[in-house]
Amino acid sequence: MYNSKITGLGYYVPDNIVTNDDLSKLMDTTDEWIQERTGIKERRWIKEGSDDSSAVMGAKAAKIAIERAGLTKDDIDFIVFATLSPDYYFPGCGVQIQDLLDMDTVGALDVRNQCSGFIYALSTADQFIKTGMYKNILIIGSEYHSNGLDKTTRGRGVTVIFGDGAGACVLSRSEDNSRGILSSHLHSEGKYADKLTVASPSIGNWVPAIIASNGEDISYFPYMDGTFVFKNAVVRFSEVIMEGLMTNGLNKEDIDLLIPHQANLRIAQFIQKKFGLRDDQVFNNIMKYGNTTAASVIIALTEAWEEGKVKDDDLIVLAAFGSGFTWGSVIIKW
Ligand SMILES: CC(C)(COP(=O)(O)OP(=O)(O)OC[C@H]1O[C@@H](n2cnc3c(N)ncnc32)[C@H](O)[C@@H]1OP(=O)(O)O)[C@@H](O)C(=O)NCCC(=O)NCCS
Repeated sequence: MYNSKITGLGYYVPDNIVTNDDLSKLMDTTDEWIQERTGIKERRWIKEGSDDSSAVMGAKAAKIAIERAGLTKDDIDFIVFATLSPDYYFPGCGVQIQDLLDMDTVGALDVRNQCSGFIYALSTADQFIKTGMYKNILIIGSEYHSNGLDKTTRGRGVTVIFGDGAGACVLSRSEDNSRGILSSHLHSEGKYADKLTVASPSIGNWVPAIIASNGEDISYFPYMDGTFVFKNAVVRFSEVIMEGLMTNGLNKEDIDLLIPHQANLRIAQFIQKKFGLRDDQVFNNIMKYGNTTAASVIIALTEAWEEGKVKDDDLIVLAAFGSGFTWGSVIIKW
């Protein structure tokens, strides 16, 4: 069996910065409320008229990752794309990457696991590499949230949290079994699907039904039972990080850097305290970008790497929790 390691990282976020004060002009909210409850100061939202979309941003991040891996698009054997905000209802964004990067007719798979999307995508790619089926896989997490949010006071509990952006990495075959992805751990609990959801469009609740409701049906906006999600997040994050450590005979003292999904700074701080980690052992960038869902972990990993916080031989723990519910972790010896 082969091992797999991340050989290139990249990210792209739109230029347009939306501050909390900007949001307070659209809805009844304040900078103080948002910062205190979530840690978020600003986020990026694609500007009207821009060509950016989940696929386009993903392609931009992917180009950087491929170049940093020292590869070309022709070296990529497979694409895995994670998003909850695809350009089309179908097909998924993976095939658009194949086209946008002018790649050969390699396979393209879309992952629909929301905030855990990148963790699921990385784990999926890891299996293809470890079995020897592929050598270099392009993995992308990208989200264009801003166009689908309720920007009135009615939606403030959800809308202030989300930002747009994309991250990408190349996962490559390695013969060095002492480094790379040590293990990944994936979970779901579908009975809570309705706690954090966009209910429309769905085959059961299609566009005519929304139109017929004369604006009463807002099931196409994200709904979240925030308190319930928060309570589950802190438990599942802790569990799945412990699961990853125990599988590898490690304990919390072995963690060099934890990169949690950027859902809420208070969740990350809770996990940090629980695992007894110092500030420099947990990477957060939610202050700048908000929650970019499937892009969040990979943007954070890329930024941490660019800032020199991911070093050879470090034990890196990636973890996420989100809609589904789904959650997971990946343990990497860098
Ligand atoms: C969303 C979240 C920040 C809300 O924080 P909270 O402390 O739970 O706040 P609540 O939802 O209980 O709302 C408290 C009050 O603030 C109000 N409020 C909600 N959003 C607001 C906003 N943007 N500005 C001002 N007030 C707001 C609510 O209406 C409520 O008012 P009320 O008490 O008069 O009814 C928090 O629940 C959270 O982070 N949840 C988890 C998110 C997450 O992890 N997602 C995972 C993957 S995406």
